[in-house]
Amino acid sequence: MPISELLNPPSAPASHLATSAIAEARKRLIVALDVPDAPSAAALASQLEDTCQWFKVGLELFVAAGPAVIEPLLKRGHSIFLDLKFHDIPNTVAAAVRSAASLGVSMLNVHAAGGPAMLAAARAALDSVKDPPELLAVTMLTSMDTAQMIASGLDRSPAAQVEMLARMCLEAGIRGFVCSAQEVATLRALAGPDAVLVTPGIRPAGSDVGDQKRIATPAEALRQGASYLVVGRPITQAPDPAEAADAILKQMAEAL
Ligand code: C5P
Repeated sequence: MPISELLNPPSAPASHLATSAIAEARKRLIVALDVPDAPSAAALASQLEDTCQWFKVGLELFVAAGPAVIEPLLKRGHSIFLDLKFHDIPNTVAAAVRSAASLGVSMLNVHAAGGPAMLAAARAALDSVKDPPELLAVTMLTSMDTAQMIASGLDRSPAAQVEMLARMCLEAGIRGFVCSAQEVATLRALAGPDAVLVTPGIRPAGSDVGDQKRIATPAEALRQGASYLVVGRPITQAPDPAEAADAILKQMAEAL
C-alpha cells in the first residue's frame, strides 16, 4: 500500500460509518416506558429489544408494577433510568436514593427545587454505594412555560430559573441534569464537558407535541449538547415503536 494511503487511509465505506453512528446514537437514546402495568412494559421492551439499549421507568409504571419491573429489563442487558423525581425532606430523599441505587439502575433523579439541603443529602447518600448510579437533578419540567411559572408564583423566565437551580445543584455536588434542549447549552457551559445532560421534550419534526412545551427535535437537542435524549410518546404511541425508534436513531446519527 502506498505510504500516502497508510497515513491517510481512504475513508471507511458510508455503510460502516452509518453503523457506528447508529451504535453511538443507541447509547444515547432513552425510551420512556410510560405504560400502566408490567405486562405492557414487557411487551413494549421486547418490541424494542433489538433497537434500544436504555429504558426509563417513571412514576406511572413504577407505582403500578413496583421495583420488580426493573430486574427483567436488567437481565436482558438494558440500562435503566429510574425517573421518580424525588422531592421530600432531606432524610427521606437520602433513604429513597439509597433504595433506588440498590435496584441496579444506572441513573436516578431528584427535583432541584427540593433545595440545597435535600440535594446535598441525595448526593451524600451515594457516597457509600459501590458503582453508584448517575444522580441527576430535574431543573424545570419541560411541560412548564412562562405562563405556568407565573401561575406557580415564579417571577422568572424558564431560562433564568433553570440557571439558578443548576448553580444550586453544582454547589451541592450534583453535576448531572434533566433539562429541556433550550437550556442544554447554558448547562453545558456551567457544568462542563463531562456533565451528564438528559433531555426530554423531544419531538421529531411533525410529531404530536402533547403536553410538552419546551421541545426540540432529536438533532437539535444533540447539537445543543445533550448527552442523552428521553423519548416517550413519539415511540411508544407509534403504530410500530421499533420503526419509530429506528427513525429517531437515524436522525440522531446524522447529528452526531
Ligand atoms: O411522551 P414524552 O416524550 O413527552 O415523554 C417524556 C418523558 O420524560 C415522560 O416520561 C416525562 O415524565 C419525562 N420528563 C419530562 N420532563 C422532565 C423530566 C422528565 O418530560 N423535565
